[in-house]
Amino acid sequence: MSDTIASPNAKMIEQWNTATGQTWAVFQAELDAQVAPLGSPALAALDVHAGAQVLDIGCGCGQTALQLADLVGQDGHVVGVDISKLMLEVARGRAGLSGLSNITFLEADAQTYDLGRQRFDAVFSRFGVMFFADPVAAFSNISKAMKSGGRLAFVCWRPLSLNDWMRLPLETAMTFLPPSPPSDPLAPGPFAFADAERVRSILNEAGFTHIETRPFDTPISMGDLATATRVALQVGPLGRLLRENPAVIPDVTEAIGTLLKNHVTEVGTVQMPASVWIVTASA
Ligand SMILES: C[S@@+](CC[C@H](N)C(=O)[O-])C[C@H]1O[C@@H](n2cnc3c(N)ncnc32)[C@H](O)[C@@H]1O
Repeated sequence: MSDTIASPNAKMIEQWNTATGQTWAVFQAELDAQVAPLGSPALAALDVHAGAQVLDIGCGCGQTALQLADLVGQDGHVVGVDISKLMLEVARGRAGLSGLSNITFLEADAQTYDLGRQRFDAVFSRFGVMFFADPVAAFSNISKAMKSGGRLAFVCWRPLSLNDWMRLPLETAMTFLPPSPPSDPLAPGPFAFADAERVRSILNEAGFTHIETRPFDTPISMGDLATATRVALQVGPLGRLLRENPAVIPDVTEAIGTLLKNHVTEVGTVQMPASVWIVTASA
């Protein structure tokens, strides 16, 4: 990547190109199934039209970029941007198989890379915008690439306390780990945009208008018990904690298996509450 050297997001670039990105690439199908119902309302809110030029920020393994490419049709085009080589490799493979020719994947940091000027009608992201070291700089950069009046829509997590699908496994694991100092709630990471007031202020400072943050709460399906347990243990903040503390893995595995078993529904899948913001704005 051209701007890896001295990048403000060097730590994230490292994470998403090693174990964090690797687990997302390995569990692409499971994670797509888990988060698709949360991305759908943001996609609907973007309301892209045929022929539109669209940017998908932090497109990862490409599911939403492919959905957008389908929506804009042959006269439109989608650029998926991401810092993770590993995930982009999956995305490019899927685009090749889909036969869609109106989609390009770009390995670049959306905070610093020159994405062009007044180029995009619409910008989308599913959980890809909470990792910027400087969110105002990032959204200012993104806004420059948008046509005046262009639409932005993304989905990001509301507080961990409302997201039992992650809170309960994390709390369970914590009982086996030494106490750690409280983390900075504003630090780049999945919950950095949990405070809607902060999100509005970032977008406002970056020059966006008509900013709206709408809560959306729904249970998410994490697959059957074996799948849900495997994904919970390896992906996200819990996966990272366990990679740093491998000695507790056997105990945590058993405890999380027991926890998730209590959330298996009559259809045989683990379902747990999730809570997100659907954020929309105009450039
Ligand atoms: C939680 S994953 C979501 C991936 C994908 N949007 C999805 O919903 O499956 C976050 C994504 O944001 C990407 N990302 C993080 N910081 C980024 C940055 N500064 N520029 C571009 N992508 C970034 C990561 O590499 C990762 O693919």
